[in-house]
Amino acid sequence: MKRHLISAADLTRDDAVMVLDTAEELARLADRPIKKLPTLRGRTVVNLFFEDSTRTRISFELAAKRLSADVINFSAKGSSVSKGESLKDTALTLEAMGADAVVIRHHDSGAPHRLATSGWIGGSVVNAGDGTHEHPTQALLDAFTLRRRLGGGAGRDLDGRHVTIVGDILHSRVARSGVHLLSTLGARVTVVAPPTLVPVGIASWPCELSYDLDQVLPKSDAVMMLRVQRERMNAAYFPTEREYARRYGLDGQRMARMPEHAVVLHPGPMNRGMEITADVADSPRCTAVEQVANGVSIRMAVLYLLLGGAEPAVSDPALQTATPTRTEESK
Ligand code: NCD
Repeated sequence: MKRHLISAADLTRDDAVMVLDTAEELARLADRPIKKLPTLRGRTVVNLFFEDSTRTRISFELAAKRLSADVINFSAKGSSVSKGESLKDTALTLEAMGADAVVIRHHDSGAPHRLATSGWIGGSVVNAGDGTHEHPTQALLDAFTLRRRLGGGAGRDLDGRHVTIVGDILHSRVARSGVHLLSTLGARVTVVAPPTLVPVGIASWPCELSYDLDQVLPKSDAVMMLRVQRERMNAAYFPTEREYARRYGLDGQRMARMPEHAVVLHPGPMNRGMEITADVADSPRCTAVEQVANGVSIRMAVLYLLLGGAEPAVSDPALQTATPTRTEESK
């Protein structure tokens, strides 16, 4: 794997499968009374969040803590960023304090790439969502969830599975990363959106495009519903919320058109009544809560693979005395 994780396109099929398999191994820890490994003891992970987040920030924090790293949570609100400090000066400060990894969420597309290529910091950079661009760990946790739910399991990928991604493709970093990663893993991907919410250049994405949700549903093994990203819209992209929900929302009746084994994904936060109705969100076919749990295992795997080393993340079978890989003694 490369030193940084900026884009889903950074991952080869082998890299992606390695992250998924490592996460599968680490997920077993979640069932144990003591969920912590000493693997990243003595290393520092900084969560640098310039944009609001619930799931992703907590997930990275928990992942780093479960690997025994020291974690610093930095949010732009209440920091010197609100006094006008630049990304560069913030990065230099973190570097001076010895950050081994910086997990960054930023409202500007490209900010994590800038951080990784600027030379301001020496550690690894992990993109936790940049503007409308990419969200690679979300794509990995979605793939992990699909692999588990659709029966692939460890060591398998998503060959031949049909995943449909529905909604605000234009503003969605989840969609962009998802399309790339899922197709890298062998899935066939269709995106469905109103014409106004389809990005220019979609023709170069490895997916098909449809405007007709009802027609695609019966052929889908999984349907990922996206939130309409109002905070990124400066114009009206559809007439009314009701109209949007009627054409592109998933309700119980529509869900019944999906094959029996098919599942519904949502990255959260959900707008119940808009892209998804409450009965679908709360149905056993919806994986939203599982996705959150799986996100911790995926982020543990990513931090471990970027910071840890080549040895197994967990020394089986005991899962008790975990392998301390590149701790301060072994570096
Ligand atoms: C997504 C995000 O922030 O891009 N959420 C998440 O990371 N769980 C999707 C969204 O905000 O709609």
